[in-house]
Amino acid sequence: MSPNVMQAERATHEGETTTMKAIAVHPGRPNSVHLARLEKPSLDDVPGGRGVLVRVLRVGLDGTDKEINAAEYGQAPPGYDFLVIGHESLGRVEAVGPNVAELALGDYVVATVRRPGRSLYDTIGTYDMTTDDVYFERGINLRHGYLTEYYVDDPEYIVKIPAGLKEVAVLLEPTTVVEKGIAQAFEIQRRLRVWRPRRACVMGSGTIGLLAALALRLRGLEVTVLSRAPKPYLNSDLVEALGARYEAVGDVALAEAAKRWGPFDLIFEATGFSPVVFEAMQALGKNGVLVLSSVTGGDRTVEVPADRINLEFVLGNKVMVGTVNANREYFELGVRDMAQAEAEVPGWLARLLTHPVRGLDNYAELFDTLTSAKGAIKVFCEVAPLE
Ligand code: BGC
Ligand code: ZN
Repeated sequence: MSPNVMQAERATHEGETTTMKAIAVHPGRPNSVHLARLEKPSLDDVPGGRGVLVRVLRVGLDGTDKEINAAEYGQAPPGYDFLVIGHESLGRVEAVGPNVAELALGDYVVATVRRPGRSLYDTIGTYDMTTDDVYFERGINLRHGYLTEYYVDDPEYIVKIPAGLKEVAVLLEPTTVVEKGIAQAFEIQRRLRVWRPRRACVMGSGTIGLLAALALRLRGLEVTVLSRAPKPYLNSDLVEALGARYEAVGDVALAEAAKRWGPFDLIFEATGFSPVVFEAMQALGKNGVLVLSSVTGGDRTVEVPADRINLEFVLGNKVMVGTVNANREYFELGVRDMAQAEAEVPGWLARLLTHPVRGLDNYAELFDTLTSAKGAIKVFCEVAPLE
């Protein structure tokens, strides 16, 4: 048992309420998800009177949490033998330090995930672009996450959410993955002097694929989503509700889709299955950009038509870019897109919130739902009522 926990336990035995519940894993030990106790954080944990105490309301889960509990990913913070998981948060501000002007009591907030390391990119606020080998991510790597009752952080990492978005704001963190990918694609395409993308393809229709389809539709692109399952089902309905096209890959291969509905100026890959990347490279239109967002921890190999892919990339001036995590800027962009989505396709975001599980105590049900619920888009824990 770590010193922090012993200290926390002692406090409980003395009858003080200085500890709180948390859902944690023992990194490296498969299926170790359990209820842990953690010392309640205090405003002074952040120096200079800049602490913000947030009560956690909702936390979304995703494939990364599955991998962490399968011991494929994730490390405990120094001094702990467990890692509190949860990186997709929504909370409400309960207290602020004397030098916090940007947030106030009662504000709904979402916290960013990555915390800065030492590279140049970290020091200018773009910690998602770190070149350090070690990176810090709350709920994922070396820092505790949000599946607990409270957290304290610096306002730099806490983004205010309009109250009108509170029902859907737990989707902001996954939205930022999409925002970053698309913003980076537009930034890269400034090389073309004029880039007016018209047709996009999204590979995969999980949470990220759906949110990518949304963000691209909001930017006026014609969108084709390719996914495994045949329609109709919730995910294909959601795609079509955006005015996008849904096709099952069993019916049309990517190359065929590009012929019919391309050329694709942008392809957003979010299947989690790396071999499709090489098909996407071939399906990409001239001057196009391919955004890769799948975190694939395995060691799969495939044979590819290397000469052809290379030749077409060279002759077509194509670009491929990887994207991970997001900094504050993309959280702010995500808030705006979510607000626009609520105005243009009201109720659409809420339909992604398919599987609520109430209370931190129900961590076992939360993980069962995450690993085996049929038709789940977003599984999330209702830690406390939204009010
Ligand atoms: C998270 C990202 C994170 C990535 C890799 C994803 O599930 O949403 O914030 O950067 O995993 O750790
Ligand atoms: Zn995630």
